[in-house]
Amino acid sequence: MSELNLEINIGNLKMKNPIMPASGTFGHEMASILDFNKLGALVPKSITKYPRGGNNTPRVCEINTGMINSIGIQSKGVEYYINELLPEYASFDSPLIASISGDSVEEFVEMTEIIASHEGVSAIELNISCPNLENDGQAFGMDAEVSYQLIKKAKEVTDKPIIPKLTPNVTNIQEIAIACEEAGADALNVANTLLAMSIDIHTGKPKIGNVMGGLSGPALKPVIVRMIYQVSQVTSIPIIGCGGVMNGEDALEMIIAGATAVQVGTANFINPAAMLDIIEEIELYMMRYDISDINDLVGTVKIDALNPTAV
Ligand SMILES: Cc1cc2nc3c(=O)[nH]c(=O)nc-3n(C[C@H](O)[C@H](O)[C@H](O)COP(=O)(O)O)c2cc1C
Repeated sequence: MSELNLEINIGNLKMKNPIMPASGTFGHEMASILDFNKLGALVPKSITKYPRGGNNTPRVCEINTGMINSIGIQSKGVEYYINELLPEYASFDSPLIASISGDSVEEFVEMTEIIASHEGVSAIELNISCPNLENDGQAFGMDAEVSYQLIKKAKEVTDKPIIPKLTPNVTNIQEIAIACEEAGADALNVANTLLAMSIDIHTGKPKIGNVMGGLSGPALKPVIVRMIYQVSQVTSIPIIGCGGVMNGEDALEMIIAGATAVQVGTANFINPAAMLDIIEEIELYMMRYDISDINDLVGTVKIDALNPTAV
């Protein structure tokens, strides 16, 4: 069989393959155990304008189908990011996608302009799943109009791809996805963690210091696969699937549902080389099914005619 093509495009960003880390689960320290140059892109933890301490502890707990976290975007601020982190990533040839969190639309736009102006940054992921302090702390991505305004303004300050990371904690993900596409988003990350809670029955206390946190890992995957499919039905920009990908089969499932690229988070904690294994498993699948170009697999889910009376 001729050579496999795993190269994909996210707006004007070319990636050598569709696999990259999910923000917050990966850092430059991992370069000693993982060849970064084999990854489609590098996505460090979300950065905030000012340093932040993060939430009450405990901030993570394990559950039988994944984990819950409530880190609270612990961050050393944008100055540190530019002066210390960007140079660390400059030596790798995989493109850097910078993830940004903000407290207001204005702060997101200001941060986008600052971060995108650096040569080492190839695209911007906007973590619109974080709380909007100007709107009762409700996540930006829960409101279609706020999402639209935020993306539209961010697009005005850079030509680099803008990728909003949607929150799955909404009734209608399609409405938010359409608003982001209409505002000019170059791709959509589907999605962040699902709001969750776990209680220690021996102490009667929540296992997370902030009571609730975000569910990640295997339990999240079917919800995300459903959302990727739903979003792909109403938008035409690339989708980056994120949530519960533990192996190559999970990544392929998301691609078949409609994702052009896939992020890997919790799996990195179990196996720091998980992303490289996933790339290899995708290649084996492509050889097995005679698929020479990964792009040909995107959104190929076969749906039989639906029975309108079925639930
Ligand atoms: C410890 C931890 C920290 C995270 N920090 C961020 C973050 O800073 N920004 C962000 O957009 N998502 C963050 N996330 C969410 C992940 O990027 C990803 O959306 C989520 O973990 C689901 O993917 P997974 O099931 O593959 O882990 C974090 C997740 C975890 C577990």
